Amino acid sequence: MTQHCTDVLIIGAGLAGMATALSLPPHWRVALLCKGAAQECASAWAQGGIAAVIDPDDSIDAHVADTLVAGAGLCDEAAVRAIVEQAPAAIGWLVEHGVPFTRENGGGLHLTREGGHGCRRIVHAADATGQAVHTALLQACRERPNIALHEHTSALELLTEGAAPRCTGALVQLPGGALQRWHAAHTVLATGGLGQVYPYTTNPATATGDGVAMAWRAGCRVADLEFMQFHPTALQVNGRAAGLVSEALRGEGALLRLPDGTRFMPAHDARAELAPRDIVARAIWSEMARHGLPFVHLDISHRPRPWLQAHFPAIMALCAAHGIDIATQPIPVAPCAHYACGGVLAGIDGSTDVQDLRAIGEVARTGLHGANRLASNSLLECVVMGRAAAQAIAQQPAAAPLPQPVILPAQPPGETAALETASVETAAVARQLRQLMHDCVGIERSEQGLAHALQRISTLRESLPPAASHALRNQLDVCWLMASAAAARRESCGAHSFAAAL
Ligand code: FAD
Ligand code: SIN
Repeated sequence: MTQHCTDVLIIGAGLAGMATALSLPPHWRVALLCKGAAQECASAWAQGGIAAVIDPDDSIDAHVADTLVAGAGLCDEAAVRAIVEQAPAAIGWLVEHGVPFTRENGGGLHLTREGGHGCRRIVHAADATGQAVHTALLQACRERPNIALHEHTSALELLTEGAAPRCTGALVQLPGGALQRWHAAHTVLATGGLGQVYPYTTNPATATGDGVAMAWRAGCRVADLEFMQFHPTALQVNGRAAGLVSEALRGEGALLRLPDGTRFMPAHDARAELAPRDIVARAIWSEMARHGLPFVHLDISHRPRPWLQAHFPAIMALCAAHGIDIATQPIPVAPCAHYACGGVLAGIDGSTDVQDLRAIGEVARTGLHGANRLASNSLLECVVMGRAAAQAIAQQPAAAPLPQPVILPAQPPGETAALETASVETAAVARQLRQLMHDCVGIERSEQGLAHALQRISTLRESLPPAASHALRNQLDVCWLMASAAAARRESCGAHSFAAAL
C-alpha cells in the first residue's frame, strides 16, 4: 500500500471544508478530498440562504433568541452566541471571495425571511445561494497553489495511534479503487450530513454519515443524533421527493393548504407557515395522515410572475420541469429527511475528543442547533467553524508525521468473488435499512418501533460479512447510533417526536 503526506488533510469539500482550506496559511500543504465530484454536496444545493444580523433594526440578541426557541431548550447558549456574533464577518468573508449575493437597488444586501426568524435576516443569492457560494469558493481553492483538490477520493477509516488516540490521517480510496494511507499533522472531518440513511431525502448521494461513523469508531463522542430535521416542503412527484422547495417561499408569503384550498397551519401554531421547521413538518405530516393525502399544497400563485421569476428562478424551473407553473398552480409538497442536528461532539474550532482531529460543518455537533435547527443557520456554522478551525490549526506545528512502513498480508484467494457477492447483498441491506429508518426512526417515533429498529440493526451489524463495504458498515453504525439516541430520549422534544408504550 502506498502512502501520501500532507500538512492538513480535509475530508470533504463542501462549504465547511473549503472555508477551512482557504483560511489556512498559504504555505501549508492542504489536501482536500471529496468522494464524488466537487459539486456533489449539500452546500452546492442550498437554496434559502445564510442567517446573519445585517439590518440595523435587527440584533445579535434577537438572532440568538430565535435560535434558542427553535432549538427547543437544548442549544448550548454560549455556542449559539459565539457563532451568531461571527455571522456578519462570515458574510463579509464570503463577499471578499466574490460570492454574488442578491442586492437591493441601493446596493445593500437583500434580506429574505424564513420560518422561526422574527425578522428579515437571510442573506441569499436568489434561490440558489449554495450554488453561488460553492462556485466562488471552489474557484478560489483551485487558484491556491497550496490546496490540492482530489475528487472521487473517499476516506474509509481514520488512522489513529496511542491509547488516548491521536489522529494521524486516513485510509483513503483513490478514484481507481486503490487504497492509500494519507498521513497528516492535522485531519479535518467536513463530510456533511446523513440524509441518505432515509429513503426520502433532500440530501445529495454523498450524505451518508461517513464522518460520524469514522469519528465514533476512532474514539469521538457523538450527540443529538435523535434530532433528524425533516424539511416541511420537498416537491412531490409520483410519490418521490423531487427536490427542495425553499422555506423562503413561505417567508415571502406562500401558504400551505389542503387540496380543497383550506389553510391548516393557523390551527397548529400561532406563527402559522412561519413556525419553526419541526412544527410545520409535523403539522403537514398529521394533516396528510388525517386526510389520507400523499402531499399538501404550497401556494405562492398570488405573487406576479415577473416577481417569482426574479426571486425564485431555480424553484420555478424545477417545478416547470415537472409540469407545475408556480405562478398559477399550487406546489405538491411533503416533509422529508433534511438535516442532522447532531453529530460529532466538537468545539466551534472543530476540536474533538481525538487529538489532531477536528469535525466541522454538518458532521459536527456544536450545540448551535439543539433539538431543531433554525433555518439558514447551517451554512453560517460551516463558515464560522471552518475559519475558526483554520485559525486554531495555524497556531500549531505544520510538520506532517513521517509515514511508517505498512506491511499487509497478501489478498487471500477468492476475495474478489466474495467482494462481488457482498456488493449485491450490500445494496439489498442498504435498501432495507433505509426503509427501517423511515418506518421506525422517522418523523414520528414509538417505543416499540425504536426497539424493533435497534434489534434489527444490531442483528445486521453482527452478521456483517468481513467483505462488506465501508459504506454499509458506516450506514449500519450511523443508523444504530441514531436509533439508540432516539430510544434513549423518552420525551418529545424539537425534531424528536416520541410515543412511549402504553
Ligand atoms: P457538504 O456540503 O455536504 O459537503 C460534504 C463533503 O464531504 C462533500 O464534498 C462530500 O463528497 C464529502 N464526503 C463525504 N463523505 C466522504 C468520505 N468518506 N470521503 C471523502 N469525502 C467525503 N442550510 C442553510 O443554512 N441554508 C440553506 O439555504 C440550506 N439549504 C439547503 C438545501 C438543500 C437541498 C440541502 C440538502 C441542505 C440545505 N441546507 C441549508 C443545509 C446545508 O446546505 C448543509 O448543512 C451544509 O451545506 C453542510 O455543509 P458541509 O460542508 O458540512 O457538507
Ligand atoms: C430552505 O431553503 O428552505 C433550506 C434552508 C435550510 O435548510 O436552512
